[in-house]
Amino acid sequence: MRKSTALAIEISAREREPIFLALARSIISEIERGRLKPGAALPGTRSLAQTLKLNRNTVDAAYHELTMQGWLATEPSRGTFVARDLPEVVKSDAAAHGLHLQAPVNSNVPRILLKFSDGAPDARLLPTAAFAQAFRRALTSTNFTHGGSYSDPAGNKSLRENLSAYLNVERGLIASAKDILITRGSQMALFLAAKAVIEPDTKIAVEQPGYPLAWSAFRAAGAQVVGVPVDEGGIDVDALETLVKRDRQLKAVYLTPHHQYPTTVTLGAARRLRLLELAKRYNLVIIEDDYDNEYRYDGRPVLPLMARSGTELPIIYLGSFSKLLAPGIRIGYAVAPPDILRKMTLHREAIDRQGDLPLELALSDLLADGTIKRHARKARRIYHARRDFLAELLDNSLKEYGQFSLPAGGLAIWFKLNQGDAKGWAECAARSGLSVLPGSHFELDKTRPAEAFRLGFATLNEAELTRAVQLLIKSQQ
Ligand SMILES: Cc1ncc(COP(=O)(O)O)c(C=O)c1O
Repeated sequence: MRKSTALAIEISAREREPIFLALARSIISEIERGRLKPGAALPGTRSLAQTLKLNRNTVDAAYHELTMQGWLATEPSRGTFVARDLPEVVKSDAAAHGLHLQAPVNSNVPRILLKFSDGAPDARLLPTAAFAQAFRRALTSTNFTHGGSYSDPAGNKSLRENLSAYLNVERGLIASAKDILITRGSQMALFLAAKAVIEPDTKIAVEQPGYPLAWSAFRAAGAQVVGVPVDEGGIDVDALETLVKRDRQLKAVYLTPHHQYPTTVTLGAARRLRLLELAKRYNLVIIEDDYDNEYRYDGRPVLPLMARSGTELPIIYLGSFSKLLAPGIRIGYAVAPPDILRKMTLHREAIDRQGDLPLELALSDLLADGTIKRHARKARRIYHARRDFLAELLDNSLKEYGQFSLPAGGLAIWFKLNQGDAKGWAECAARSGLSVLPGSHFELDKTRPAEAFRLGFATLNEAELTRAVQLLIKSQQ
């Protein structure tokens, strides 16, 4: 954001009111009436002092006061900004009528200080320099300068080739470039997978609790979703069989076998075999979402269902770079048998002609030169330590409230309460400044009481995890 150089505002100090507080009040009212928007740059203290004919220390003191209150944020060597997490316009009666120096937002909007994500990675760890170089190379390569217009809707070929090699070594998949479709995040692949398998009145079985955005994608593609319970061993395959036998409209099952979303459990070997048998017997398409495969900390690697079954079965395997890099980098992919992949590619072309070529070229380069692998190794080591750190914090300070099984992998801990409703906890936590997702978020039936939290630990360092757990406990006191 460009630094603002001037800001004309009126200051009217009340009787015996220090001038810096009067200035702070004026800035708040400019934020509240929407003139200064969240994220807007403020002038430097010297420049504002010159504009307003004030001493620079006065402006400094006002900025400091507003930063302490959460209205402003200072970014080292960049300047001072209106806090980004304020609602767009917080016009309040208090501002219209006078002093308003206590709370930075209106009373209905809690100020969130920290967030347990649902399992996002820490974008601060990204190899940004390598990325920037790869982007530059991509934009100047002949691949782009001479072929940078429309290209293959299935994705750039070199990316698919490098991805095929990566998936072969890392996950045991035997898939060549022609078996892969690059999408904008796996969200698009979820939609396309459903589009490729549905017929009129098709139902797709999904894990319950599970991933709500997958349900949205399937519904948007025209399918109905049917919940199958999940327990300590993953999706209940007996319950799935009962459903398939009863309902021949059930054409596919969507699951997250590596680290079940949200409960984190890994689907056991016996259930994997039974699931593959079921798929064969009932001609069921398996949509395997392997969204955070790189993060396995304990035990031996568990290969995807796709690696076990080869091409015998209709499995649509989905992956994403959202957990490995950052969700804002929109690259996902699908590996599927040729007839399904062809349909998915046609649907993709209909809604989005092709992917982002420079991004695909850059990623292809980073896969080929080993940057992605090195980053995965580094991120895995850091998240492993963060998982253990959070587990210890929970053991030490939340034992009386609930329990959890240490997840063998992934970026979150599923913390089950001994009693009480996690939704109520989450609301109290928000009032203390902590955002945390209660189990109800992952239920098909949102009215069910939530008995657990999904505590994503990867975006928080040790100091932030400590503070977040303190806020969670505080919200209960
Ligand atoms: C279960 C699951 N699948 C897939 C994804 C990745 O989605 P995308 O690749 O669209 O960012 C996520 C991200 O949160 C997820 O939780």
